Amino acid sequence: MPSHSPPWAVNAEGVPRSLSPPPKQEREGEMPKDIHNTPPLLAGAHADTETYNAMYEASISDPEGFWAEHGKRIDWIKPFTKVKDTSFAHDDVHVKWFEDGTLNVAENCIDRHLATRGDQTAIIFEPDDPNEPAQNITYQQLSDEVGKFANVLKDLGVKQGDRVVLYLPMIPAAAYAMLACARLGAVHSVVFAGFSPDALASRINDSGAKIVITSDGAPRGGRVTDLKGNVDKALLHCDDHVKCLVVKRTGQQVTWQENRDIWYDEMAASASTFCHAAEVGAEDPLFILYTSGSTGKPKGVVHTSGGYLVYAGMTHQYTFDYQENDVFWCTADVGWVTGHSYIVYGPLVNGATTVMFEGVPTYPDAGRFWAVCEKHKVNQFYTAPTAIRLLMGQSDDFVTKYDLSDLKVLGSVGEPINPEAWNWYNEVVGKGKCPIVDTFWQTETGGHLITALPGATKLKPGAATKPFFGVQPVILDPQSGEEITTVEAEGVLCMKDAWPGIMRTLWGDADRFVSAYFADYKGYYFTGDGCRRDADGDYWITGRVDDVINVSGHRMGTAEVESALVAHEKVAEAAVVGYPHELKGQGIYCYVTLMSDADPSDELVKELQAWVRKEIGPIAKPDVIQWAPGLPKTRSGKIMRRILRKIAENEVDGLGDTSTLADPSVVDDLIANRAVK
Ligand code: WTA
Repeated sequence: MPSHSPPWAVNAEGVPRSLSPPPKQEREGEMPKDIHNTPPLLAGAHADTETYNAMYEASISDPEGFWAEHGKRIDWIKPFTKVKDTSFAHDDVHVKWFEDGTLNVAENCIDRHLATRGDQTAIIFEPDDPNEPAQNITYQQLSDEVGKFANVLKDLGVKQGDRVVLYLPMIPAAAYAMLACARLGAVHSVVFAGFSPDALASRINDSGAKIVITSDGAPRGGRVTDLKGNVDKALLHCDDHVKCLVVKRTGQQVTWQENRDIWYDEMAASASTFCHAAEVGAEDPLFILYTSGSTGKPKGVVHTSGGYLVYAGMTHQYTFDYQENDVFWCTADVGWVTGHSYIVYGPLVNGATTVMFEGVPTYPDAGRFWAVCEKHKVNQFYTAPTAIRLLMGQSDDFVTKYDLSDLKVLGSVGEPINPEAWNWYNEVVGKGKCPIVDTFWQTETGGHLITALPGATKLKPGAATKPFFGVQPVILDPQSGEEITTVEAEGVLCMKDAWPGIMRTLWGDADRFVSAYFADYKGYYFTGDGCRRDADGDYWITGRVDDVINVSGHRMGTAEVESALVAHEKVAEAAVVGYPHELKGQGIYCYVTLMSDADPSDELVKELQAWVRKEIGPIAKPDVIQWAPGLPKTRSGKIMRRILRKIAENEVDGLGDTSTLADPSVVDDLIANRAVK
């Protein structure tokens, strides 16, 4: 790789110092016209504005040609001849990419790198305890470990198309297990290890998995969660045939059920490192990931193999300007889509070095992120605004005492980033020389939709800026559903046509797939987010417009918290909304109507908080519980959440028309007793 002067330098306002293209010679290799598939190219993107514009234009005017070319960035067993067959028409929603091609995702993430990068580090594992040695796992070792894992799963009867649930800490075995499923053509569904046994059980049951992979315990922030114990509780609600494969992490005591529980290490001891890779269709499912919607139970978002992999790899390379030998660190958990696309699949398909961190930003102290950046010479760092806000509240010494000179690009994901956090990230962490890519995307989208590209995009604190290649954002008037075509616009954010990384369906619920995403605004994919487009055509995400809230970057349906609350014997009715929270972005505000024989008390508040925590997981613990003798309802019995949101936000002067309420007096009571004044 030729060295280059960084095109990413930004001044204090976050505006790239130099938007001039790098020398011609360097550029030639960057945006190859003809991307060959073997060995995988890491020829860097180094986008400049002109190249971005030209590439974006090409991706929209000739999607077939554009993606035919970029589809070649991965290895195909049988090359595709059909590129794109997509429609968002409400009565005919379908999405197929590269549909007659076949491939194996694990081969793409591992085998094809071995000839050139067998000894290169694929995964750097940084344990929770800073005194425990980190591990550098080479591509060759990754190959051996995934081969063994796949053979163990095969011996347990896992076949192509079978579902496998993972409930694991952030350890290399999580990546091995995901890739082992991919090798066999099995479909993984990773469940965040912070979810409760009930949440785990419902995901095992919905996916129809016959096996769940866990570990004895999960160290995090100096404490240990009894993961195996949680699985034991979950399996009480699952089919008797579900097996539990246990990876050893802590060595702690675990309860054991013969014929159901299996130690991974015992089976792996005699397993071969070679496992044949299944040939799967581009449109065969790679994984299911459950996520919250505005109503009802979590949705099993299905991603398939070919398009997802192309898109994860391409966004990883371009958005972060990943270059040969760079060390990339995404701090997300593999239980979320960010971990799927930007810890595992995107980096590994690109032959990159990816950091997997087991711990939390504040353990043993608030300098941990920066200590890890220094220790592993991290070049691209990707985290969530909630973590930035948490850390900026501590002394800057936690940052400045570490050498962060290897950092080149900083990323943000999960929620809108407030300018104050953006500026701190830029100045204190990035020293004003690392562009911040604020990446807007969703579990459903597979990869980034709207993001800056280092060197190519003028940065603005708080703006997600411009669409990625192939992505066509539109802003609709929420009432009429009409597209607002003026440059400056505000409304709901939809997408006009499909890109290769979009989900294909909801597991077992094709009708809900259409009704949840393609019915409100016919002919478009509806993100659920509000958005503003400024005079420069930059997009600013303004937050969810549905009943999904974003708590510390974790997406949650208020309906899930409500159903957990009403499952408590003392609760008659509950309504849950988000409210602005300094650290978490949004906090969980619950209005609770008790059964007539129950007395409101501080103890009951604590009891209900613990109850929701137990039902869903620690991330769902209510921040505020307000007793509500009545809830504002229309005469037809619909709860008027708009009013509840305003009260929770302490914006009681702008409640609007309450005359349609069945009993307007309940609002006065709620205002008088609101938690935030
Ligand atoms: C929000 C996470 C503003 C948004 C990858 C979206 C963001 C939801 C951003 C998806 C961003 C994500 N700026 N808002 N850069 N990134 N969001 O499925 O509301 O966990 O709809 O995917 O997070 O959350 P999910």
